[in-house]
Amino acid sequence: MTDRASTGAARARRYEDILVVTIDHPPVNALSAAVRADLAAAVRDAQADPQVRAIVLAGAGRNFIAGADIREFGKPPQPPALPDVCNQIEASAKPVVAVLHGAALGGGLEVALAAHYRIALPGARLGLPEVTLGLLPGAGGTQRAPRLMGAPAALDLMLSGKHLSADEALKAGLVDALAGESDALDAGLAYARQLLAMRAGPRRTRDAGAALADRPAALAAVDAAADRVAKTARGLFSPARIVEAVRAAIELPFDEGLRAERALFLQCLDSPQRAGLVHAFFAERETSKIPGLEQARPRRVERVGIVGGGTMGAGIAVSVLDAGLPVVMVEQDDAALERGRARVAQVYDLLAGKGRISADERAARLARFTGATGYDALADADLIVEAVYEDMDAKLAVFAQLDRVAKPGAVLATNTSYLDVDRIAAATRGPADVLGLHFFSPANVMKLLEVVVGSHTAPDTAATGFEFARRLRKIPVRAGVCDGFIGNRILATYRQAADMMMEDGASPYDIDAAVRAFGYPMGPYQMMDLAGGDIGWATRKRRAPTRDPALRYVQIADRLCERGWFGQKTGRGYYLYPDGARQGQPDPEVLAIVDAERARAGVSPRAFTQEEIQRRYLAAMINEAANVLREGVALRPSDIDVVAVSGYGFPRHRGGPLHYADSVGLPGILADLREYAKEDPAFWSPSPLLVELADAGRDFASLNRAA
Ligand code: 3HC
Ligand code: NAI
Repeated sequence: MTDRASTGAARARRYEDILVVTIDHPPVNALSAAVRADLAAAVRDAQADPQVRAIVLAGAGRNFIAGADIREFGKPPQPPALPDVCNQIEASAKPVVAVLHGAALGGGLEVALAAHYRIALPGARLGLPEVTLGLLPGAGGTQRAPRLMGAPAALDLMLSGKHLSADEALKAGLVDALAGESDALDAGLAYARQLLAMRAGPRRTRDAGAALADRPAALAAVDAAADRVAKTARGLFSPARIVEAVRAAIELPFDEGLRAERALFLQCLDSPQRAGLVHAFFAERETSKIPGLEQARPRRVERVGIVGGGTMGAGIAVSVLDAGLPVVMVEQDDAALERGRARVAQVYDLLAGKGRISADERAARLARFTGATGYDALADADLIVEAVYEDMDAKLAVFAQLDRVAKPGAVLATNTSYLDVDRIAAATRGPADVLGLHFFSPANVMKLLEVVVGSHTAPDTAATGFEFARRLRKIPVRAGVCDGFIGNRILATYRQAADMMMEDGASPYDIDAAVRAFGYPMGPYQMMDLAGGDIGWATRKRRAPTRDPALRYVQIADRLCERGWFGQKTGRGYYLYPDGARQGQPDPEVLAIVDAERARAGVSPRAFTQEEIQRRYLAAMINEAANVLREGVALRPSDIDVVAVSGYGFPRHRGGPLHYADSVGLPGILADLREYAKEDPAFWSPSPLLVELADAGRDFASLNRAA
C-alpha cells in the first residue's frame, strides 16, 4: 500500500494492485477544476503504473459526487473539461469501478457512466437533474445513459430530473450490483478484486448497444418525448435539447453524438434560463443564513400543538406528522375537531390510494395524531402553531389561552396571513417566545414558510422556526412584521395593478393569458377563483374603514362577491365552472360587470398589449419588492425571489422578480414606473431603493453579495 501524489481534491492511494481514487472536495464533492485535474492525473498515471491493475473511484464524506461545480457556470472554462475527463476514464486500459454512495448526480453520475463498472451502496441517489438548472447532461450522460438503460427510461430520468434509489438504478441497468458493505472503500476494493479474479477487463459504455438495439422503438420514444415536451415544457429551453441529444445518441456514432451533445449543452449554458435556475438553486440555500442567528441554538421540538383544524391547521398537521413528530390538534368543539381529524385522514387516504405511502405508513402517521377541545392538552407541546380564523380578536383570545397553558420555553407561532405579529405576541407574558410561521396552502405540499420575526422574538425562538422548517423539509424565509409580510404584501400590490388594468380596458382573461405567457402556471384571476374570492372580500370589508380615499379602489371583485361568485367552490367567479369543472370558461356576464364598473368609474376603456400587461404587472411587483427590501422586511433580494418562486408561482427559470429585474436592467424598470406614475403617482411612485440602485448603476444582485 503506497500513497501517490495528489493536490488534495482527489487523492489516489494504492491497495496492492488496486488504485483507489477518492474525490474529497467538501461539501458535496462537486467537480471543480481542481477535482477534474486531480482525477484526470490519477487515471492517467495509473495507466503507466505497472503495479496498478484496476482503478476504483469513490467519494469521501456523505456523497460520491454531486455533479459539476455549479458555481463555475458562467465563468471562463478551466481545463480539463469534464467530458474529456470522462472520455479519459472510459478509455482506461485497466478496469475502472465507480462506487456510488449518497448523491451521484449530474456530472457525478456521468463520471460513473464513463467508468466500466458501477456498484451502489444502500442510500445512494442517482440522477441527471441538469434540467432543473436549465441544462442537459453535458459530459456524455445523454449518450451513455440511453446505451445502458434504453431511450425511454433515460429520457424520463433526464426530463424529470428525478433521483433513483440504488435498487431502482439496479433495475434500470444503471448499476451492476448493490454493495452490502456500508463503507465505499471496502465495497469498491472487494468488487475490483472479484473483477481481477475473473480477469474482467474494461467494459466501455460507448460500446454497449443492447439497450438501443431496437432502433425504431428507440426513435419512437424520442418522438413521443418531443411531443410531450412541446405540450408541457411551458417555454423551458433545455427539455427539447435533451430530447435532441438522445436522438443523436440513437442516430449517430458515439463520438459524433458527443459533439452534438456538447453543442446543445453550450446553447443551454448560455441561456438566461440557466442563469435564472442556478440563481434559484443558490437563493434557496441562502435563506437560512441569518446574520445574528449564527450563535443561536434552536430549542428542542419533540411535540407540536396546532390550534385550529381548518384548511391550514390540517395541512400543517400533515406536514408535521410527515416529519415524524406527534401532533395535538385543539379545536373549538367536538364537531370542528372531527372535521379537522377527517381533513388530516383524507390527505393520507388520498396518498395511500395513489400508492404514494403504504397502508402501514398511513396508520403510523395517523397514530401520532391526537385531538382535543381543551387547551390543557397543549401543556406538553414544545411548539404550538395557531391557525384559527384571520381575526385579531380571535387570535388574541387564543394567545391569552396559550400563555396560560404552554410550558415555559414553548415556542408560540401564528400562521396569520396579514395580522400584526407584535400585537399578537403582546397578548402573552413572553413575547420573546412568539413568532409567525406563515405556511402556504396546501401546507403539506408547499415548500415555502415565512418565518416572521417580531420586535421581541428571541434569537433562539427564531432559530427554532428555521430548524422546524428544515425538519418539515420547507424553505424558510425570514420576514419582518408588516401587513402581509413579504409575499402577500407584494401580491396585494401587483393584484392592484392587475385590477387597475382590468378597469382600464384589459379583460381578466387577457391579463391571465399575459401572465401565463410570462411563465406563471396560472393568472391572478384564475388563482383567485381557486383560492376563493370570499377570503379577500372579508379582508377588504375589514379594511374599508381605514382605506385611504386618495388611493384608487377597483370594485369589480366586490361586485362578483356580492353575487356569491367566489370561484371554483361556487361554480363561478371570474370564470364559469359548469358541473364542477376545474378548467374555467370565460363568462360574458363577468365582462358585462366589468364594463358597468368602467362606466361607473368614468373610465373609457383602452387596449392593452400582452407586453404592456406583463410590464405593468412586473413593474408593480418589483417596485413593492424594493420597498419591502428597503424597509428590512426581507433580508436580501434573493429571499424575495425565493418567496415569489416557491410560494406564488413566479416562473423559476426567470429566477424571481428581482433577478428578473436585474436581467432586464433597473433603468428600464424605473423608466416604466415613471411613465405609469404620470397616470397615478400615488400607486406607481418608484421605490427610493430602486432609484438609488439605478442611479448608481448597481443591481439587486450587488445587495445579495453584501447581505
Ligand atoms: N456545485 C457547487 N456547489 C454545490 C453543488 C454543486 N453541484 N451542490 C451543492 N452545492 C453546495 C450548496 O450550494 C451548499 O452550499 P452552502 O453550504 O454554501 O450553502 C452545499 O453544497 C450543501 O448543499 P445542500 O444544502 O443542497 O446539501 P444537501 O445535503 O441538502 O443536498 C445535494 C445535497 C443532494 C447534493 C444537493 O446539494 C443537490 O441537489 N445539488 C445539486 C445537484 C445537481 O444539480 N447536480 C448537477 C449539476 S449540473 C452538471 O452536473 C452538469 C454536467 O452535466 C456537465
Ligand atoms: P379555516 O376557516 O379553514 O379554519 C379555521 C379553523 O379554526 C376552523 O376549523 C375553526 O373551527 C377553528 N377555530 C376558530 N377559533 C378557534 C379557537 N378559538 N380554538 C380552536 N379552533 C378555533 O381557516 P384557514 O384557511 O385554515 O386559515 C387559518 C389561518 O391561516 C388564518 O389566519 C389565515 O389567514 C391563515 N392562512 C390561510 C391560508 C389559506 O390559503 N387558507 C394561507 C396561509 C395562512
